[in-house]
Amino acid sequence: MKIIKMKDLNLSKKRVLIRSDLNVPMNPKGKITSDIRIRAALPTIKIALEKKAKVLLLAHLGSPKEGKEDKNYSLKPIVAWFKNNLPNISIHLIKNYLNQSIKLNEGELIILENVRFNKGEKKNDDSLSKKYASLCDIFVMDAFGAAHRKHSSTYGIIKFAPISCAGPLLCKELNYLKKAIYNPKKPIIAVVGGSKISTKLNLLHFLSKKVDKLIVGGGIANTCIAAHGYNIGISIYEKNSIHDAKKLLKNNNIVIPMDVSVSKNKKEITINKIQKSIHNIQNNEKILDIGNQSIIQLENIIKNAKTIIWNGPIGLFEHIDYQKGTKKLCQAIANNKNAFSIAGGGDTLSAIEMFNITKNISYMSTGGGAFLEFLTGNILPTIHELSLKYKKLHKNDI
Ligand code: 3PG
Repeated sequence: MKIIKMKDLNLSKKRVLIRSDLNVPMNPKGKITSDIRIRAALPTIKIALEKKAKVLLLAHLGSPKEGKEDKNYSLKPIVAWFKNNLPNISIHLIKNYLNQSIKLNEGELIILENVRFNKGEKKNDDSLSKKYASLCDIFVMDAFGAAHRKHSSTYGIIKFAPISCAGPLLCKELNYLKKAIYNPKKPIIAVVGGSKISTKLNLLHFLSKKVDKLIVGGGIANTCIAAHGYNIGISIYEKNSIHDAKKLLKNNNIVIPMDVSVSKNKKEITINKIQKSIHNIQNNEKILDIGNQSIIQLENIIKNAKTIIWNGPIGLFEHIDYQKGTKKLCQAIANNKNAFSIAGGGDTLSAIEMFNITKNISYMSTGGGAFLEFLTGNILPTIHELSLKYKKLHKNDI
């Protein structure tokens, strides 16, 4: 699938509108708790500034109610981050940019307030897409994390902008993900954790056909353990997905934990940490991590892998008593110097940072939902739209 790339365009003096994914986690005081996504978006912005473009940045933050401003979802903290990290660049946050003409200067960075304040954004309203398009000479889609969204600022604008292209981060993400999925070295191992099996069923089915071993963890593993007919006490699982889990388990490459770490107390998870086999879980026990035997099994599988795909923690890693499984998984990936490893999803990246293995992962994707969609074999709508734009441009050339 061919698309126009930003690196092939002359940006000088042009109004370049970059759609980035700056949707970062924040604490209740509005402090950014992980800036991975902003750091990943930065190189594209720097290139455009260096090429003397008039740079406008478009992004969303959270899911505010459309049609009005909400200060809790303002991009102000992100603007402050850019001001700290680009001290020599003049940076401005602009509100109400749809109803005024914006004065632009070369080498300046204009950040447009949260696109999700604009009515019609999520519905991909054509008139909104046209307004965004009118702000630029070149639209750069660089928000891989939002590339699965058919919204006005990610998808709709592509058709209406004079030129629409893929930014360097988007291109990089696609190249790494393609390498993991379409051209992997074998054995290929996937680790899929997280709380809900229902949101990852398509991914699990797709991966089970692709990989040599599919290790499941977290609530997904609990649902699989329950599907085997074992008692899982008061553990998080999805009753309605038992049938789907049974179907998944027909693939004999699915690895579920054979022992686990449980807590006996519903509220106070710190007390009564016990390791036990999955055959012996009591009605008042809650699975919060994998056990020692499962860790050894996991380490052996990871040790021999040539490609490792990871999404979702395999235990309650934020809690000191239940982080061993996820920590050992991180260390096993870090110790395997021969494997190409790719990881994605907010919690996964937090675990990677927490256990200090950032340098040992071949590629950390900025995508959550987009990462899962891509790994499920789906063509992301924005990529498809960029390819249509490429075709249109080349038809006009002839
Ligand atoms: C994400 O956080 O996965 C992306 O920024 C997309 O956000 P959304 O799920 O709110 O569309």
